[in-house]
Amino acid sequence: MSALRERHTFFVTCAPGLEPVLFEEAKALALPKLERQIGGVRFEGTLIDAWRANLWLRTAVRVLLRIQRFEARHADALLENAMAVEWERWLAPEGFLWIDAQSRDSALDHTRFIEQCVKDAICDRFRASTGVRPSVRKEAPDLRVHVHVSRDRVTLSLDTSDDSLHKRGWRAAQGRAPVSETLAAAMVMFSGWNQRAPLVDPFCGSGTILVEAALLAANAAPGLYRPRFGFESWLVHDAAAFAKLKDEAAALRRELPRKLRLVGLDVDPARIDDARANLAATGFDDRVELEVSNATEFAPLPGWNAWIVTNPPYGERIGEAAETEELYRAFGGQLREHCAGYRLALLAGSPEHAKALGMGGLKRHTVVHGGAERVLATGEIR
Ligand SMILES: C[S@@+](CC[C@H](N)C(=O)[O-])C[C@H]1O[C@@H](n2cnc3c(N)ncnc32)[C@H](O)[C@@H]1O
Repeated sequence: MSALRERHTFFVTCAPGLEPVLFEEAKALALPKLERQIGGVRFEGTLIDAWRANLWLRTAVRVLLRIQRFEARHADALLENAMAVEWERWLAPEGFLWIDAQSRDSALDHTRFIEQCVKDAICDRFRASTGVRPSVRKEAPDLRVHVHVSRDRVTLSLDTSDDSLHKRGWRAAQGRAPVSETLAAAMVMFSGWNQRAPLVDPFCGSGTILVEAALLAANAAPGLYRPRFGFESWLVHDAAAFAKLKDEAAALRRELPRKLRLVGLDVDPARIDDARANLAATGFDDRVELEVSNATEFAPLPGWNAWIVTNPPYGERIGEAAETEELYRAFGGQLREHCAGYRLALLAGSPEHAKALGMGGLKRHTVVHGGAERVLATGEIR
């Protein structure tokens, strides 16, 4: 059977808390035999389904192809089972390899040791059959292998994505504390934005939310800007078939509706420059209105009936907490006074910050970002 038609089990990971959005996206993409799980979604499909998942899923972090599951309480079992995998199907003997391991509640709990064992197993297998062994390389390896150990059950997976999918390839400017592209996309989708009403980000920073909103409204696949996915270096890869799929995805990108308004504001002129650079990199710079403005004076024109999707400062540096809480209080006051009936999706640095907005009736959802639990508050402003 051709490698492209063979069926595999895949696991698509996402940031904790984003599983519902990822599941909806995966459903819309018609990924076969889809199941929602903790930390992501699972599906059973072909490599072509995995290509589509990598190209189109806005909230996915990586797409893993499961190749082997077994029990191992000690190194011998790990070595033996890892050596039984037909690695030569995926990787050339002189290719480059990288292994990442995670372990939880297991006898094998030293991740470096687990990585070493799996590397040895793969290299020994190659050396025995070809006399040559792959080398180890972290940056752009030809094959990235994930080892997940939980309660002594080992899952070996091939990483079809390689670098995290939040690295879309369009970011020209970092700004300060940018929200990840995947979370920005999730915020826009969580907000229920109808893609017709204006979308405003009053703390736009480097413009991540605006870029992701524009990509969504333009039906542009988020993976189109990415220079490379992991599967492109695999031995079984069919570059011509993937190029065709990419061309088909590119053809689905449409012009933004002429009347659509996307607005980004920030108090720091340098951030507005960052946002402009990122919007230019995606070709949306002439479609987004950017302005230096203080959110404590935020007062959009009446009748806009906009969606406000934003992430104000987290206030995590020493001495900033009280000042940031004051900023949330002032911004919440502006929203209540000027934006009744608007819809809000706001990523707050902490539950206290979300509370400081002074707005009851919002739904609160916990998401993990930057190693901390954040609150995504969504709903109608009253
Ligand atoms: C957490 S960052 C937003 C990051 C942004 N989502 C991105 O992806 O780059 C918060 C932003 O709020 C801006 N800011 C801080 N105080 C502000 C204020 N009073 N009015 C408007 N913007 C403000 C900062 O300059 C910073 O760019």
